[in-house]
Order: sequence, then C-alpha cells, then structure tokens
Amino acid sequence: MLSTNLTSATAPSNPGEKRFLEVKDSKTGKIIKINVEEGNAIRSVAFEQLDLVCLDPGFMNTAISRSSISYIDGEKGILRYRGYDIEELAEKSSFLEVAFLLINGELPDRNQLNLWEERVTKHSYLHENMVTLLKQFRYDAHPMGMVISSIAAMGTFYEDANPSLQGSDLFLKGADKDCVKVDSLRFKQIYRILGKLPTIAASAYRHRIGKPYNNPVNNLNYTGNFLYMLDRLSEVNYHPNPVLARALEKLWIIHAEHEMNCSTAAMRHLSSSRVDPYTSIAGASGALYGPLHGGACEAVLHMLEEIGTKENIPKFIEEVKQRKKKLMGFGHRIYRSYDPRAKIVKKVADEVFQVLGKEPMIEIAVELEQIALNDPYFKERKLYPNVDFYTGLVYKCLGFPADYYPVLFLIPRCAGWLAHWIESLEDPEVKIFRPKQVYTGIDHRKYVPLNHRKPAQANNADALRSFISPMSKRRSND
Ligand code: CMC
Repeated sequence: MLSTNLTSATAPSNPGEKRFLEVKDSKTGKIIKINVEEGNAIRSVAFEQLDLVCLDPGFMNTAISRSSISYIDGEKGILRYRGYDIEELAEKSSFLEVAFLLINGELPDRNQLNLWEERVTKHSYLHENMVTLLKQFRYDAHPMGMVISSIAAMGTFYEDANPSLQGSDLFLKGADKDCVKVDSLRFKQIYRILGKLPTIAASAYRHRIGKPYNNPVNNLNYTGNFLYMLDRLSEVNYHPNPVLARALEKLWIIHAEHEMNCSTAAMRHLSSSRVDPYTSIAGASGALYGPLHGGACEAVLHMLEEIGTKENIPKFIEEVKQRKKKLMGFGHRIYRSYDPRAKIVKKVADEVFQVLGKEPMIEIAVELEQIALNDPYFKERKLYPNVDFYTGLVYKCLGFPADYYPVLFLIPRCAGWLAHWIESLEDPEVKIFRPKQVYTGIDHRKYVPLNHRKPAQANNADALRSFISPMSKRRSND
C-alpha cells in the first residue's frame, strides 16, 4: 500500500514554501518526495523511483502538456479562448479573427486581420489533382472519409513542408536556424490548411449531390464563401443569406477549440513524432469522426429520428438507464454542468428557425432534455446537454445531411489543432509521445511448428470460422 502525505496546503501560509507530496511504499518502506508544480501538477515520472507506473486508461487524470490556448471550468460551465469568454467571441468576432487569436495568442488589429484574411483566402484553391482525387470516391462515400483522405493527400503536394524529406527539425527553431524562416514555413502550412479545408469540404458535399465543384471566391467571408461553394449553381451574383452565414460562423467559433479533447490530444500525439501537419490533422480528424466525439452530432440526429415522437421519450430514457442505449449529446468528461456552448447553440437555433422555420424535431429534443435533466439517473451523474445535442438540429434545419455534421465540426476545429501544433513546437518539454502499458500477457512460450499445433483457443475463434460471405459460399471449394 502507498500512503501519501501532502505537505503544506494548496495556498501555503508562507508564500515561499514549496508544496510537495510525500509518498511511502508500504512494501519497501521507501519514501519519496514529489514537488507539486504550478497548476497543481505532479510528475508521474517521479513514481519510477518506486518502480511504479501510473495506469490511467482514458487519461482520466493525466495532463499531457501545459497549454495557454483555452480554459474550461467544468463545474461553472466556463469556456475561454486565450482568456476571452466564448459567448463574447461568438457574438462579436469573426471566425478568422478567432482563428488568429487561437493561433497567435492575441486578437488581431484591423491591419493584421486584413492580412490574415487575405493570406487564408489566397490559399483556398485546390490543385487540380486534388480535385481529381476527390472525384474518385464512390457517389455515396461518407464525407468524413473523403475529407480525411484529402487532408492527408494534401501533404503530398508540399515537399517543402515534409519533415520526412527535409529533416525532422524542419519546423523547430534553434540557435543555428533562421527563426523568421521557420515561422513563415509554419504559417504557410496554416494558411494552406485553413484556406483549402472549406474548399475540400464543399467539394465532398458537391460530390455527394452530383454537382460540379465550385471554386472559392474572394469577396465573401469564410463561412459565406463556404456556403457559396456548397450552393452556387449558375447564379452570377450568388450571395448566401447573411443571417444564416453568421449563424454558421457562430457555430464555427464555438467549435474552434476545446483544450485537450480526444482529437486535440491525437493532433499533439501525431505531431510529437514530427510528422508533417497535414498527416497530424488527418489523424486528429479521424479521432474527431468517432460517435463519442465529433460524430455525436450525427448520432444525436439518428437518435431523435429513432425516438420519433414525444410519447416514445419515457421508453427511450428507460432503455438508457438500463444501459441498452446512450443518450447522445449528453454528458462530458469535463463539464459537470451545462456546456456553455450548448446554450449558445440554442440561441443560434432560434436565429436560424426565424429564417427557415422551426425544425420539427426540436420539440422532441427539448422534451428529451427536460425529462433527462429532471431524472435522478442524469442528475446524480451530472449529465447535461453538450454542444452536440442541439447543433445537429440547426444543421438539419440548414439543410445539411447528417453525415456531413462531423465535417462542419472539423473545419473550425482545425484552428484549435493548429494552435496546439504551434504551441507544441514551441514547448521545450515536448518529447515523442510514448505511453507505457501494463503487460498482462503470457510470460514466455516455446514455439510450436505449424504441423504440431492444436486448434487455437482464441477468443475470436467462432468469429474467424463464421466470416464467410454469401459470395464466398457461392464459390466452389475446389
Ligand atoms: N447517456 C447515458 N449515460 C451516460 C452518458 C450518456 N450520454 N454519458 C455518460 N453516462 C454515464 C455513464 O454510463 C457512466 O455511468 P456509471 O458511472 O454508472 O457507469 C457515467 O455517466 C460517467 O460516464 P463516462 O462514460 O464514464 O464518462 P466519460 O467522461 O468517459 O465520457 C462522454 C464522456 C462524452 C464520452 C460520454 O458522456 C458520452 O458517451 N456521451 C455521449 C456521446 C456524446 O454526446 N459525445 C459528445 C461529447 S461533447 C463534444 C465532443 O467532445 O466532441
């Protein structure tokens, strides 16, 4: 057994006094002292002195880095980007302004914003081979598969940005390096990614509906241009509805960053191997796609469709409590109160409904939320609606197909991922991510030649046997 003794309180009476943890191993009697660092952090590596490893599946209490990009208070329902309240940014800023803030640490002045917008906009055209690549997907390909593959493919166009070709320290600064050159190389990739991603995403959308892809235009803002690429047919003077373009922009602002979530951790994980940012973003996008993360928005819609009518809600809630189903769009690892983003989405929903009419499924969602919030199962576990609960309904009302929702999450989240990429490049503590495991397998066995083996008692033996497709059954066994 380990006993711990926290010496000195969180706020030491003597400000100069260092806080530390004293840990005693009951087996060996060895005592170690572990310093408590800024941010109430202790180094897991200290436990190596006791020959112990910290086991933390799902990173329930493990910080993988220090970060100054965004801050969440899960109890109070606060989210801030670089110190600014998310509510204020959603109301007053543009998406590209927020992207600048996340990546550079400060809000831009007018000149900086103009330059930033110009740089991003000028990188929005796709190489024709990229267009050809997108066109090769099946007519009904999931747009996330198309977008993820295209982001990874994007890296193949830029040899100059590939550390595998140019050297592993390509994006790092150092005494013998021209830091301005390194910065401009980093920012070149940022402009390319922020610029081209909406074009890739819009092309994936047009592919699904069998319409020619639109090239971007420079006279519309980020979301306006995106809507243009989605919807323009032969109109000479196409303009998106400004209320809807602004509604989308607000949703993108609140989706831009959310500290160390599954996909951002993936971004940092991949980047730690010093791979190019395109591959890292493709990896992060893969993590985002999952139904427990960015894919939840799509899953909420399927859930609401399955519930169908208000009368079916109590039965559904019972099934959730019996763990037969999950209430998608509810719960969060960090928020133990209302997700502040969900409140903003509710307001945006009203703005969109004013223009397009109420999305009928909203009635089911509101009732479902009320029933869940008053049910002891959800109350005890502090489960509240998260950002995905209402976002899907807004996107449905805006006419997006459900499988496109994760794409609408991915585009803005790239700003946050890139901010973490830059921060990790600047962090002298960053090392290649290499978690440990606690090995539970067989110690050592003697190799048995194929002809002398008994049938394997594998857990999946039945699955192996039963994996015969109807097509295979039609074939002769000869
Ligand atoms: N429906 C029913 N029960 C739930 C739900 C839910 N949506 N979420 C959590 N619980 C229960 C869970 O069964 C567990 O109960 P018990 O303690 O009795 O075993 C308890 O609440 C704690 O949940 P957990 O799964 O241990 O919590 P976690 O921090 O590992 O998971 C989560 C967080 C977001 C994955 C989870 O709440 C969930 O699966 N929610 C539904 C999917 C979803 O909406 N995801 C979007 C998250 S927000 C946007 C984003 O990150 O992209």
